Amino acid sequence: MGRITNDLFDVTEFAHHCPEEFFIAGIKIVISFVILARINVLLTLIIFVIVPVMIAVCMSLNFRMRGAFSKQRNQIGELNARIEDSLLGQKVVKAFTNEEMENQKFEQDNGKFLDIKKETYRYMAAFQTTTKMFDGVMYLAVVVAGGIFMVKGLVAPGDLVAYTLYVSTMIATIRRIIEFAEQFQRGMTGIERFLQIMDADIEIFDEPDAKEMLHTEGNIRFDGVSFEYPDDHNIVFRNLNLEIRHGEKVAIVGPSGGGKTTLCNLIPRFYDVTEGKISIDGEDIRHFTLKSLRKNVGIVQQDVYLFSGTIFENISYGKQDASREEVMEAAKRAGAHEFILNLKDGYDTYVGERGVKLSGGQKQRISIARVFLKNPPIIILDEATSALDNESEFAVAKSLARLSEGRTTLTIAHRLSSIRNSDRILVLTDQGIVEEGNHEQLLERKGIYYQFYTTANELK
Ligand SMILES: Nc1ncnc2c1ncn2[C@@H]1O[C@H](COP(=O)(O)OP(=O)(O)OP(=O)(O)O)[C@@H](O)[C@H]1O
Ligand SMILES: [Mg+2]
Repeated sequence: MGRITNDLFDVTEFAHHCPEEFFIAGIKIVISFVILARINVLLTLIIFVIVPVMIAVCMSLNFRMRGAFSKQRNQIGELNARIEDSLLGQKVVKAFTNEEMENQKFEQDNGKFLDIKKETYRYMAAFQTTTKMFDGVMYLAVVVAGGIFMVKGLVAPGDLVAYTLYVSTMIATIRRIIEFAEQFQRGMTGIERFLQIMDADIEIFDEPDAKEMLHTEGNIRFDGVSFEYPDDHNIVFRNLNLEIRHGEKVAIVGPSGGGKTTLCNLIPRFYDVTEGKISIDGEDIRHFTLKSLRKNVGIVQQDVYLFSGTIFENISYGKQDASREEVMEAAKRAGAHEFILNLKDGYDTYVGERGVKLSGGQKQRISIARVFLKNPPIIILDEATSALDNESEFAVAKSLARLSEGRTTLTIAHRLSSIRNSDRILVLTDQGIVEEGNHEQLLERKGIYYQFYTTANELK
């Protein structure tokens, strides 16, 4: 956040002021040099000998200042992240009465920030006093050398007075450049930090000759797919083969952490497979543009994310140019229309940051409505009904059944009741797909699915 707000602000300030400042300063220095030289060449050379020394010293101080600025930015970033974290997690903090600990963590980070800030001020102070000192030295040089020159008759008293006045213009200009160096440093640090974001490797991108995915039947095929998350080398699948035909309703069940969500994330290419390939209608999904691929896949995710804004805006996220009628229709089909009408401002109710003003089930139905509106040929439902009560689950299940007509649907569910009618059920464990078949076939096998099913019934 810091990088794309504060840092970029410094960069724009710098880009806006820098050219004009340097241009004006450059002209002033050249012209004052010419005027001073015309009054007295020797005196001018003496003064201009001091300028490079001054620039060298200031540059070295500047360099250290830049390092300090950079550290300061990083630390303020950390501090902001910490504050955001504690604020967003405030319910957890309160529930565990860990306010004291959060305060201490803040205190610690803030202390670090204070130290860095002190260091920055030290460099700034050194910088300021050094430049002021050089100012004084230059005046002193003019007065002393000018005095000697006047005594020796090398310069007329009137010329020396004019000279002193011109020198003060020049010194003011040099000061301006040096002061500006501080802004320059801020700008440069800002650019550096911003470029680090822009240069970050994108892991998933369009192939050079990627094509549009236009009409999709929705035949999905996994061929020898292996996958491990890029940052930890924990293998989630090894040599997984799976075929899902057009219009088929496939359900995935399995123990928590078995890789169900991961499997679904591979289809819209949130991650790329490590080995093997996934194809849709016989074409490797890496050959399609990401945009067109993702347009064809609708997902209701396990952790629903709503944007701060109104309900209408959140549903129409599925189709940006949707009309009010379309949004309402989608909400009706997702079983959300009734509760939305009961809210204070109906569809224009503000949902709060991340949808805090809605219940878990309400959020879930809004995210289902989004997918209704998007209307893609392939649908992935990751625990889409897990936050609903039995009654609304039944209602949503009906609308999901309507939604999935003629489309390829992948459903992940812990509650087996919602997947009984699937065409095919896969049991996914860390050993891969260990059982496959419809509800009756799997019960007959008396394997893992049977165990799940009977345990679930016993619990009831
Ligand atoms: N972003 C990630 N980075 C690294 N490892 C991950 C990541 N997400 C999941 N994993 C690991 O991958 C494995 C599979 O996780 P996944 O979320 O696919 O399980 P799941 O079957 O959906 O579980 P659940 O039923 O609890 O939702 C787990 O061991 C998990 O620790
Ligand atoms: Mg999951």
